[in-house]
Amino acid sequence: MRRSGLMIVTGIACLSAYAGVPALDQRVDSLLVQMTLTEKIGQLNQLSPRGFGEFALAVREGRVGSVLNEVDPEVISRLQHIAVEESRLGIPLVFARDVIHGFRTILPIPLGQAATWNPTLVEQGARVAAREASSVGIRWTFSPMVDVSRDARWGRVAESGGEDPVLNGRMGGAMVRGYQTDNPADPTAIAACVKHFAGYGAAESGRDYNTTWLPLPLLRDVYFPPFEEGVRAGALTFMTSFNDINGVPSSANRWLLQDVLRDEWGFDGVIVSDWGSISDMIPAGVAADRKEATLLAAAAGVDIDMEGLCYPAHLEEWVKEGKISEETIDGMVRNVLRLKFRLGLFENPYTEIENRPVMYAPEHLETARRLAEEGTVLLKNDGILPLGKKPGKILVTGPLADAPHDQCGTWAPDREKSRSVTPLAALRRMYGREAVIYSPGVRYSRDNSGDGISAAVEAARDADVVLCFLGEEAVLSGEAHCLALLDLKGRQRELVERLHAVGKPTVAVFMAGRPLTVGREIELSDAALYSFHGGTMAGPALANILSGDVNPSGKLPVTMARLTGQYPMYHAHKNTGRPPFWSVDIDDIPLEAEQTSTGCTSYHLDAGVEPLYPFGYGLSYTEFEFGTPTLSAQTVSKSSAVPLKVSCTVKNTGNRRGEETVQLYIRDKVASLARPVKELRDFVKISLEPGEARQIEMELAPDRLAFHGLDGSEIIEPGEFEVWMAPDSSSGEPVTFTLTD
Ligand code: GLC
Repeated sequence: MRRSGLMIVTGIACLSAYAGVPALDQRVDSLLVQMTLTEKIGQLNQLSPRGFGEFALAVREGRVGSVLNEVDPEVISRLQHIAVEESRLGIPLVFARDVIHGFRTILPIPLGQAATWNPTLVEQGARVAAREASSVGIRWTFSPMVDVSRDARWGRVAESGGEDPVLNGRMGGAMVRGYQTDNPADPTAIAACVKHFAGYGAAESGRDYNTTWLPLPLLRDVYFPPFEEGVRAGALTFMTSFNDINGVPSSANRWLLQDVLRDEWGFDGVIVSDWGSISDMIPAGVAADRKEATLLAAAAGVDIDMEGLCYPAHLEEWVKEGKISEETIDGMVRNVLRLKFRLGLFENPYTEIENRPVMYAPEHLETARRLAEEGTVLLKNDGILPLGKKPGKILVTGPLADAPHDQCGTWAPDREKSRSVTPLAALRRMYGREAVIYSPGVRYSRDNSGDGISAAVEAARDADVVLCFLGEEAVLSGEAHCLALLDLKGRQRELVERLHAVGKPTVAVFMAGRPLTVGREIELSDAALYSFHGGTMAGPALANILSGDVNPSGKLPVTMARLTGQYPMYHAHKNTGRPPFWSVDIDDIPLEAEQTSTGCTSYHLDAGVEPLYPFGYGLSYTEFEFGTPTLSAQTVSKSSAVPLKVSCTVKNTGNRRGEETVQLYIRDKVASLARPVKELRDFVKISLEPGEARQIEMELAPDRLAFHGLDGSEIIEPGEFEVWMAPDSSSGEPVTFTLTD
């Protein structure tokens, strides 16, 4: 369709708007009716660019509807001009990319953004990503990933909002709003894609793509809520997950995609498969061949086949064989055309290239730095921090001290490592080169040579303080990068142990894509900061915290286990019938001890039952005091329209301003199904001046006390509940109220 054709479609829409028919639907239908079956199926085909000539021909013939992984603005422009001006109907392409935590300005990985517990700031970060990506023509990102992740062996915990449904949902909703704004047709808006629907984070043994076994209560209590939050935030697209749920691959799961996502939640956007997840049904043993996989996916409601080449190869056959109706195809195509209309691509298919100066804009770098600062968690401080302005001679050591590529973390395909500011560079900028000695000790996280450790130990003898930057390379987390052992790789522990022997004040700073089992390294250090790959501005953020210019406020979005074998480990665990009131350490068990002498309760002999650090934990350079929570009522009816109000006073009892995250937890003491010992229900991050006290009030409506039964139905049961308002998931004393019929 030439420009004139576009105007006809637009004109019809305007007229029809007066007829009360939604203009959008009218525009979609007036275009759909002109399309051939081949052109319809073309809209359901998403490819990454191949040889330009072949690809351009496919675009010109209307056999491609969207393009992923093209970021050259010239190529994007050329392909779009072909689609709009040389194809028969002129339907624009939509260009997609995994802008997971920034485009050029790399933000902290999503797990690090979740550690800020600051949805407003996370939304700003998504806006930065959208402005930069859209400036080259990208109008669709495959983010936010909101897969609840309770097993740090799974590499993709890095991309998630951590172990909790509420935190994942808030972060995911914030990203959706930041990407799309309230006007997705704005040229700087990009379509969000809530992924991976669903249950992907429950991959057995933390091994990526593995099967999941998820009964309805778990799906609906834990794994679904962040996705529902994404629908409420107005996400324009969803992506199916690679895993099967109880044997049904998500791309073949009509109950999931149609009954739940569309019928129950009212989602009317696009559902895109994950990369090749349709043809993955064959090795999964659910489809005999690509043709059968095509039928299963189309019947389930997958609109777009991402790089699977199943739809272009077999959909037309199924229509001709009568197994898939053209009405079904029309419904899928409507979803795609609706997306393109919503993005304003028919009116503005081209990107004004002069927009490109947005990359690394000062305000983008500032947002990235603030996210990295607020996402850094102070785990331990024996008083050595903050260093202040004159800490004397500093030794900077460790494999992440000067690792511009790795500090950006996983899923940063458009990073430019030359733009990363490393901790070493930032500390030298802050304290001067003379005051900062650098001796890496180990060259990269897996370095087993150890030949640099002696030099680092010698350098420590001349230093007044040692800053040891430990962790993992970016490649050790993310998709398909799972670990069976979460101890630091290489000779990092040996570096810490030999530095400890020198006896200088030592700060361990971790930069990783997941929580690692680093109890020993922290035990040997006087202070410890944990950051989840902080991105372009990780260095300045960490320098500001180490010096004290910034007061750390991060809180753990995941539980930190002592040993890998404790995972899956999370705060909302069940109490079991045998909770351990005490435990015996394996090394204290006498020889030939009787079987029952260690107690018949639920814990690991070699780890106990407690984590290294609990979900929601994080210290500050000041101190906060929480008053006992008070309730607006001691009893509340489950049919009450008036929510219970919970409040407590929080006071900054220290000598500097600080941010604290007040967390609201509940426990349903007795129910028809065993309930978790704690469940996060709300949180708010506040800033308090020294000596300032503030009353914080939160609401608990009865539906926040609900859970799902074995049949998946929502249940609100009368009974006694405990409530906490606390700085983390293991602190504070509860107050009790009773829910009545
Ligand atoms: C990958 C990932 C998905 C990503 C997609 C496109 O396999 O699972 O998260 O968005 O392919 O790159």
